[in-house]
Parts: sequence; C-alpha cells; structure tokens
Amino acid sequence: MRTPASAKLCALLDCRVPILSAGMGGPARSELVSAVAAAGGFGFLGMVREPVDLIRREVEAVRRDRHQRFGVNLIPFSTPPALLQEQIALCIELSVPVVCMFWDLDPAAIATLKQAGIRVAWQVGSVDEAVAAEQAGVDILIAQGREAGGHVRGTQRLGVLLPEVVDAVEVPVVAAGGLSSGVDLVTALSLGAAGVMLGTALLASRESFAHDYHKARLVKAEAGDTVLTHAFHVNWPPGAAVRVLKSAIDTSAAAHDPVVAHDDGRPIPRFSTDSPLRTTTGALEQMALYAGTGVGSVRAVESAGTVVRQIMDEAVASLENQEGAAEFASSVCYLADGPASGSVLTETIRKEVDEVGATLRTALRLHLRDLPDTPAAPPFDAIAHEYGRHALLLGAANMGSGTARETFSQAETALQERLERLLPQMGPSELQQQLLQLAGFLQRRVDTSDDG
Ligand SMILES: Cc1cc2nc3c(=O)[nH]c(=O)nc-3n(C[C@H](O)[C@H](O)[C@H](O)COP(=O)(O)O)c2cc1C
Repeated sequence: MRTPASAKLCALLDCRVPILSAGMGGPARSELVSAVAAAGGFGFLGMVREPVDLIRREVEAVRRDRHQRFGVNLIPFSTPPALLQEQIALCIELSVPVVCMFWDLDPAAIATLKQAGIRVAWQVGSVDEAVAAEQAGVDILIAQGREAGGHVRGTQRLGVLLPEVVDAVEVPVVAAGGLSSGVDLVTALSLGAAGVMLGTALLASRESFAHDYHKARLVKAEAGDTVLTHAFHVNWPPGAAVRVLKSAIDTSAAAHDPVVAHDDGRPIPRFSTDSPLRTTTGALEQMALYAGTGVGSVRAVESAGTVVRQIMDEAVASLENQEGAAEFASSVCYLADGPASGSVLTETIRKEVDEVGATLRTALRLHLRDLPDTPAAPPFDAIAHEYGRHALLLGAANMGSGTARETFSQAETALQERLERLLPQMGPSELQQQLLQLAGFLQRRVDTSDDG
C-alpha cells in the first residue's frame, strides 16, 4: 500500500510498510524493535535518560538480529545535559540510522546529528512546533494528537492537527495518537500522513518490555478509561501531561508510601513517570499505566509482528480488492485505463472526479473539526474511516486544503450533487464502482438522518 508520501517515508527509513513503533522509554527495547522490523515496519528504541551502556547493548542486540534499519528515541528536555551529550555521541559512534526526539526543540542536537549523517525525526504537538522543527533541519515529523498514550505534547486532536501540519511543512509527516487499526492507517494516509506511529497497540505486545500486569490492564481497558493528567510528574520537568489509565491516579492518590515499587533495585517514588517493566516489583497498580485512546482495540497480547500484519491486512481489505487500482495513482490514471479514455468526455469526467476528490477531502476535514470535544475518544470515527477510504481510493490524499469555509453537511450535499451529475456520464469501470459505493454510503447517511 503506497501513497506518494508513504513511499517517500519508506524510502527514507528503508522499511517496507509505513508503520513505526514509538520509542517508548522503558518498554521499547531491542526485542520489540526487531519484531517490528521483521514485519516490515520501523522501530525506535525508547532510550530516554538511559545510560550509554544500555543503549549500546540494545543497539547491538538489534544488529545481532540482523536488522540494520531502526532508530533511537531520546528526549533532550528531560535528560541531564551531560548524559544527553554522551547519548548523542554514542548514537554517532554506533552510526544509528535515525534518532527520534520529543518535547522542547533542541536545534543544536539536531545539527550535531545531521552533521554526522544521522536522520532526525521530531515528534510535535502543534503546527508552530512542526514549522520550527522543519526549519531546524529534521527529516521527518511526527504529529502527535492528544489521544496519545504516555507524554502528550499538544492539546489538539489528531484529526485537526495532522492535516494542518501536513499543509504547513514539506517533510513527511507521521501520525501518532490513539491509532490502532487498519482503517486508522487508511484514514491517516488520506489526510496526508506518510505513515503511523503506534505506542499503546505495541506496548501490549509480547515483545514489549512492559510488565505483564500493564499489558493485562490494556487488554481490558476502553478509550474512556484513559485520562490526560499532570499527576505523574516525578522525574520530569513540570507542566507535562500524560495519558494513563484513570484507575492509576485513584489508587496512587489513596496510598501514602513515598516509594511504590522497585525496578532492578531502584526505588520508584509515588507519582513517578516510570511505568512498570518486566523488572519492576511492588504496587504496580499505583504506577503510571500509560494508555492511548486506541486501547479499546487491544484485545489480546499478540506478537508485535501479528499486530503490524493485522493492521496492514485490515487496511488493504478496507480498500476492497481494488488494491491494484488503489496503488494511489491519481484519478487521471484511473481514467486512462477506463472506457472513456481518450475521448472528450474523459477531460470532463477527469475534472469532475478531481472535484469529487477535493470535496471528499474537505468533508473529511470538516467532519473531524466538528467532532464532539470528548476528552477520551479515539481520533477517527466510522464516518471518518469511510471518507478516508474513499479519499485514498480516489488518490485524493493531501492535495491541498480545500474550501474550509463550508460546513460538513454543505460539503456532503455538494458531494452528492457532484456524484449525481457524474455517474450517468460514466461507463462501467472500477472507478465507477467505487463512486457508486460512495454514493450509496451518502444515501444511507441521508436515510438514517431522515429516520432519526
Ligand atoms: C508507555 C509509553 C511510553 C512512551 N515513552 C515515550 C518516550 O520515551 N519518548 C517519546 O518520544 N514518546 C514516548 N511515548 C509517546 C509515543 O511516542 C507516541 O506519541 C504515543 O505512544 C502514540 O499514541 P498511542 O500510544 O495512542 O499509540 C510513550 C508512549 C507510551 C504509551
């Protein structure tokens, strides 16, 4: 499955599928990164504040598994400067292919890594930050919506932030926050993302270094069980929100012991940002049980390879056997293969189809903008998934911002009118089938709202 943007990302990262695993500090070690790479994706080792010996060991372990494409995640803002310098120097010494960073921008770190020939990705929570990071020289941006598990940088929903970032920068943009399914991937690509980055969905995988207790809690949780909070703050500079399972705050607040657990003998204070790992013992239920709003799709502890493959399979299946046609050629290419090819009609239809694509994209963006302001919902609903699917099939991903002044229902009406004009002019073709499906979907929505 390829869009121009995802092809560019896969070429930059040298991976087969546009699915990245987040550099989760603690849980994302070599086992997870190797498993994601083996499935064709791209993994980041979560090495925030880790000593250089551990980073060296984990990088060597990934290479022992014969994977050359992987990255290291570091967070300058929450790392003592001397340690950060050592970490960066080690990444350079080891020729780590990609370093992903997060939180306050550090242009000096970006420059040092770039001079050493290392690609740099930066995770952002706002358009301003994305533009500043691009100006500082990053190769890839990760737009993190507030649906994300773990530390959450911004305040916008992914469905609003992502298309704004895509419009504002040139470098590939990866979507993150609450994503857990193939239809999420399709919708993110239709909004111009080059790929997706998963945290929670892989945190629960067999290869993650998270404690089994944390994984079991994820399997049982729903989006509404998560909350954004400042409660877990020890070890981080102040003012950083995290998304965790709500119960962790309640159990922690009810307890009094200043030390709740130990990790490899190291005491973990109450309200620390540490989450429970395989090596942690103690009152795990009182620790930061990170979870994004996609947690409702996590129903079993699977291997990371299975998670990646299931997401890809579902994405392809949602494009309904039109995968050949949906190699994201533009609508022009569809028509070149169609019955009207070469005729005067082709030009008219081509223009109409492009307008359908543009209206579809506008409708999707307006729908996402107008979604109710629920504090703990996954980023995309069923309507967004359906619009995203059709936009991707029409090759209409990321072709400019459309007419933002319309309302969603105006855009839907315009779409219906366009299809009513266009369909009678078309001969049978895959494109016509797909547009008929779209017209059917719109009609069902009208019927349902009439019934209501
Ligand atoms: C357990 C956990 C730890 C995380 N640690 C880090 C980290 O060390 N560095 C980082 O850049 N992002 C970290 N994140 C955030 C991820 O990069 C990403 O934004 C997030 O996982 C995406 O949302 P999702 O969890 O809903 O998929 C963490 C996320 C989780 C769930």
